[in-house]
Amino acid sequence: MKPVKVGLLGLGTVGTGVVRIVQGNQEDLSSQVGSPIHIERIAVKNCDKPRSIEIDPAKLTTDPWEVIRDPEIDVIVEVMGGVEATREYILEALERGKHIVTANKDLMALYGTEILEKAQEKQCDVFYEASVAGGIPIIRTLIEGFSSDRIVKIMGIVNGTTNYILTKMSQEGASYDDVLKEAQELGYAESDPTSDVEGLDAARKMAILGTLGFRTNVELRDVSVSGISGVSKEDILFAKRLGYEMKLLGIAESDNDEFSISVQPTMIRTSHPIASVNGVFNAVYVYGEAVGETMFYGAGAGEMPTATSVVADLVAVIKNLKLGVNGLKQIVPYKNKKLKSDDDIYFKNFLLLHVDDKAGVLAKITQVLAECDVSLDSVVQQANPNNPAAEIIIVTHDASKSSMNKVLRRFEELEVIRRIKSHYRVEG
Ligand code: NAP
Ligand code: HSE
Repeated sequence: MKPVKVGLLGLGTVGTGVVRIVQGNQEDLSSQVGSPIHIERIAVKNCDKPRSIEIDPAKLTTDPWEVIRDPEIDVIVEVMGGVEATREYILEALERGKHIVTANKDLMALYGTEILEKAQEKQCDVFYEASVAGGIPIIRTLIEGFSSDRIVKIMGIVNGTTNYILTKMSQEGASYDDVLKEAQELGYAESDPTSDVEGLDAARKMAILGTLGFRTNVELRDVSVSGISGVSKEDILFAKRLGYEMKLLGIAESDNDEFSISVQPTMIRTSHPIASVNGVFNAVYVYGEAVGETMFYGAGAGEMPTATSVVADLVAVIKNLKLGVNGLKQIVPYKNKKLKSDDDIYFKNFLLLHVDDKAGVLAKITQVLAECDVSLDSVVQQANPNNPAAEIIIVTHDASKSSMNKVLRRFEELEVIRRIKSHYRVEG
């Protein structure tokens, strides 16, 4: 049987896992696809770097173009990362009729539409299962499993690094900096972890999920983003006392084909299944009009879980090759894009205010809320021995984002409020 020849771009955390699986499961994989799978060439930055797997040094090159231009290679597996240069490699590989498997959410969130259109033109496959939620097969699930339904809500913990950090802060009282370092050592974090902790990595993944779920072109700029670098241990304690866990949640909602999409630290009711997703684990909760609630759970990062999805995509490409149906399953978004305005985006809010401890303060605060049409669920005032100001904790009922923004602006100007210490979205 003629082997299928694969070119690998990158041999880091994910690439190493891909080689391990392809070498270790060769017999099983070739039985599934009907040919041996050969990794022919591998592009790396440094050929002399020690590797934890055995690799024939003759396969290594520091020039990705050598891999792309190799006429023998049928499939390119891109696990190198990067955006602009990587886009060029992928487009050229497609031009040459090579199929693509990638784990690169940055690339797919920014240039997914262009790449998928090129793939369609060239009748090539582009699969990117590992780009969202590592080992969870959520992309194939949205494309195939939900094809008959209308998705109303997608709520995801889609960044392992931040979930790992928040879990350790919540369960062990660990410091933010120590846990971030640990996540980097474990290979979960991006090379620049700012994109993890500031929510950008999750935003890119949510743009991909939104595009597939709502069948419209959700772009990164459509996602309103805030990260976890401002979340304190105190905030997490307040959340717990009120019956919530703090999670970095991506939330995409659609009604009447209008959607909103955001990523932010969110207080989620402990009884919600997503609240108990801890450590580097990811979960994606999908609510479909017909199916109702579903949730998908698994490791969202790390060598072997991510490589599992990459190699599963490789198997799918090779099966399509055998059937001669490559390029037929690309989902190019077909619905017009309609983003909700802030007047139509509703959610509950948590506010922690440091205020003057004197008569009439609460009345002034509730007056602003009433004037901005924000209704209260609960208000608690408490003294804090470590804080000369009094603390007021407010949880609102569902309020529009624009009304809440008005409240925040009015609170900034209210002289009895010394500081708006924290503001979080509340779910569940
Ligand atoms: P990584 O450990 O940093 O590995 C990157 C690999 O690419 C290295 O082997 C590096 O070579 C090589 N490389 C980088 N720039 C290159 C260039 N210009 N030319 C040739 N080779 C180059 O990255 P990773 O964690 O495996 O992530 C790879 C991709 O998967 C990224 O898109 C990431 O977002 C995505 N992803 C990662 C995970 C995860 O858990 N890590 C999960 C899901 C998706 P050297 O080995 O010589 O340095
Ligand atoms: N840095 C990413 C995370 C890797 O922590 O989830 C997986 O995409």
